[in-house]
Amino acid sequence: MQWKAVALALFAGHVSSQTVFYQMLRFQCSQLVVDRLDPLANPGLVPSPHLHQIVGGNSFNASMDPATHDPVKTSSCTSCTFAEDFSNYWTAVLFFRARNGTFKRVPQFVSQGVQGFGGILVYYIPPYDGVSNVTAFKPGFRMLAGDASLHTSGTAPKICHRCLPKTGDNRNVECGAPDSKNLPTGACEGGIRSIITFPTCWDGVNADSPDHQSHVAYPTSGTFDNGGPCPTTHPVHIPQVMYEVMWATQQFNDPNLWPEDGSQPFVWSTGDRHGYSQHGDYIFGWKGDSLQRAMNARCSGAVCSQLKTQTSEEAMKCVKPPAVNEDIDGWLTELPGMVIVA
Ligand SMILES: *[C@@H]1O[C@H](CO)[C@@H](O)[C@H](O)[C@H]1NC(C)=O
Ligand SMILES: *[C@@H]1O[C@H](CO)[C@@H](O)[C@H](O)[C@H]1NC(C)=O
Ligand SMILES: *[C@@H]1O[C@H](CO)[C@@H](O)[C@H](O)[C@H]1NC(C)=O
Repeated sequence: MQWKAVALALFAGHVSSQTVFYQMLRFQCSQLVVDRLDPLANPGLVPSPHLHQIVGGNSFNASMDPATHDPVKTSSCTSCTFAEDFSNYWTAVLFFRARNGTFKRVPQFVSQGVQGFGGILVYYIPPYDGVSNVTAFKPGFRMLAGDASLHTSGTAPKICHRCLPKTGDNRNVECGAPDSKNLPTGACEGGIRSIITFPTCWDGVNADSPDHQSHVAYPTSGTFDNGGPCPTTHPVHIPQVMYEVMWATQQFNDPNLWPEDGSQPFVWSTGDRHGYSQHGDYIFGWKGDSLQRAMNARCSGAVCSQLKTQTSEEAMKCVKPPAVNEDIDGWLTELPGMVIVA
């Protein structure tokens, strides 16, 4: 499998002389819907302030009250290839802004080694030491990584962009060089890859918190993968959830389409033209203890003896109509939600 070589190459910097294989779930979740909903930040609000692209279980909706909404029971399908994963994953959407001020949604493509339509490549990563266990999320768990209101560099580690060369470059998903927190400043021949890495330490009690962030934390030093310790307030190691989102920006690479001042032309649906506002939202929805079993078994890639899979064709059939009826694919005079670019 192609991606194994990729995973090896990308962590080679950490392992130098040893040959170590890092196990992690890595699977495609195709586009469920692109919609102006946000059950975490704006529960019940239709439409929410900015546009998201959403994948996972089809019970996704504006409210998703954790007290009553069980994604496993309420979903009849998932757009992920692991058939027991009815979680929802969502991120901002990338737009191109033309010289005449109109906006066009940037199409997506899927990562190397998987099939699907748009959406998000999802990772669940147990510690790289190969032996210590993680505690999988419990029903009702949700969290948020990054900050949709940021227009300058934030503190969340490992939320970044890569300007992909023509031949593709899947080395390290660690947000090391040449990745940047801001959107790439030059044209990218292979499109743009966006990585969102969630915290890996949990307070062990709360499935959520008012800001959807305080119940989880990043390691106090170092990183999850090199064994960075959890803070005493958040002692429980949870799987490292990571999103990889690919944007096919190539059709907009003609320099005559770019702003006359030489700045780059892409903006997130949050109105952010620098790139710092990219964020990820997560609502846990794995059936029973399936995720815990897969983590304990240290399954790798998109096939796991502990888990049921469906074909990417089946996964792509799981779609839902948008709740908000608005044009998102024409040349738009304003970003959806009349979001102001800054
Ligand atoms: C979301 O789904 C739940 C469960 O099916 C339902 O009770 C609720 O009314 C839905 N909310 C919206 C805003 O559609
Ligand atoms: C604005 O520019 C884009 C890209 O060049 C073009 O496709 C679109 O038709 C233009 N719209 C108007 C109203 O001129
Ligand atoms: C991790 O969990 C597995 C399965 O329950 C168990 O066999 C193994 O001993 C555990 N590893 C550690 C280091 O506790």
